[in-house]
Amino acid sequence: MTILITGGAGFIGSALAKKLVAMGYEIIIVDNFNSYYNPKLKKDRLKYLLNNYKYKLYSIDIRDYEGLKRIFTENDIDIIVHLAAQAGVRYSLTHPFAYHETNIGGTLNMLELAKDFKVPRFIYASSSSVYGGNTKTPFSEKDPVDNPLSLYAATKKATELLAVTYRNLYGMKVIGLRYFTVYGPWGRPDMAMFLFTDAIVKGEPINVHNQGKMTRNFSYIDDIVDGTVKAIERDFDQEIINLAANRVVELEYYIELIEKNLGKKAIKNYLPMQKGEVQETLADLEKAKKFLDYEPQWSVEDGVKSFIAWYKWYYKIG
Ligand SMILES: NC(=O)c1ccc[n+]([C@@H]2O[C@H](COP(=O)([O-])OP(=O)(O)OC[C@H]3O[C@@H](n4cnc5c(N)ncnc54)[C@H](O)[C@@H]3O)[C@@H](O)[C@H]2O)c1
Repeated sequence: MTILITGGAGFIGSALAKKLVAMGYEIIIVDNFNSYYNPKLKKDRLKYLLNNYKYKLYSIDIRDYEGLKRIFTENDIDIIVHLAAQAGVRYSLTHPFAYHETNIGGTLNMLELAKDFKVPRFIYASSSSVYGGNTKTPFSEKDPVDNPLSLYAATKKATELLAVTYRNLYGMKVIGLRYFTVYGPWGRPDMAMFLFTDAIVKGEPINVHNQGKMTRNFSYIDDIVDGTVKAIERDFDQEIINLAANRVVELEYYIELIEKNLGKKAIKNYLPMQKGEVQETLADLEKAKKFLDYEPQWSVEDGVKSFIAWYKWYYKIG
């Protein structure tokens, strides 16, 4: 089986690629190594995680239809796992067009090519942010998601709609995975875990939004990869499934764990809620359990410990 992973040099993509290649799948990675955050981290993920494995790499932008077409011409692809996206809620306030071009235009390119080259299955990343202004918790796949709080969320919802359209028109099997705040080794430098750790190490203040009154389903990378692999290994027609940790954590407790593992206190700069952010994310995991036998294994205590150990190793701290 050959699996094409877009965004394969990204945080989730590289961890997934490593797992799949170790399981014996043929892997093709597509990534444009853009500089939204340091591309060296993307290159290093491939260098360290996929070091001993054989895989194909195309440094191509998913906005480039002709470039992508070459990949489909040169390979027989069984499954697409479409993870490439302009991620980040805050950045979407200042760079709206990047979201439109990659998350909508790039996704459309992928779906068109999947249709033309008869790739039967299309699995893609959506996000908990589609729940937007939803005040009912836990967030269930059955809840209406037509009240986005950021352009990022709107483009993720659009991705879901595009995928369902291709299923309805062309019978393609489409599965959307709504990931909830993923963290762990090789994580994204624009996310809370990384930003807090960086600032604490440098003795700089950390920005704690909404006076710290936020809760998150902080989800460890291995659990998210496990759920994604299960989605690859089962065959559904059309589903959207939440993937998250099974416990919510207060932001303040998350910071406490980082402090404990670094052996250093944070200087906290309490700020009001940021535009586009939500106060609480809590996933209903019943569907993931039922459809995927998904059972997250990682506690936040072990997850943060593992991230900090990686951070110290990668950045040669101490
Ligand atoms: N990390 C999370 O907490 C989280 C939560 C919800 C959803 N998601 C979604 O999961 C997916 C993966 O997220 P991630 O955290 O690994 O992010 P990431 O930014 O680390 O990975 C995305 C990868 O896609 C690549 N990419 C971006 N635009 C591209 C383009 N135009 N052409 C080719 N490659 C491009 C980037 O270079 C990057 O390597 C994304 O779709 C994201 O929206 C992530």
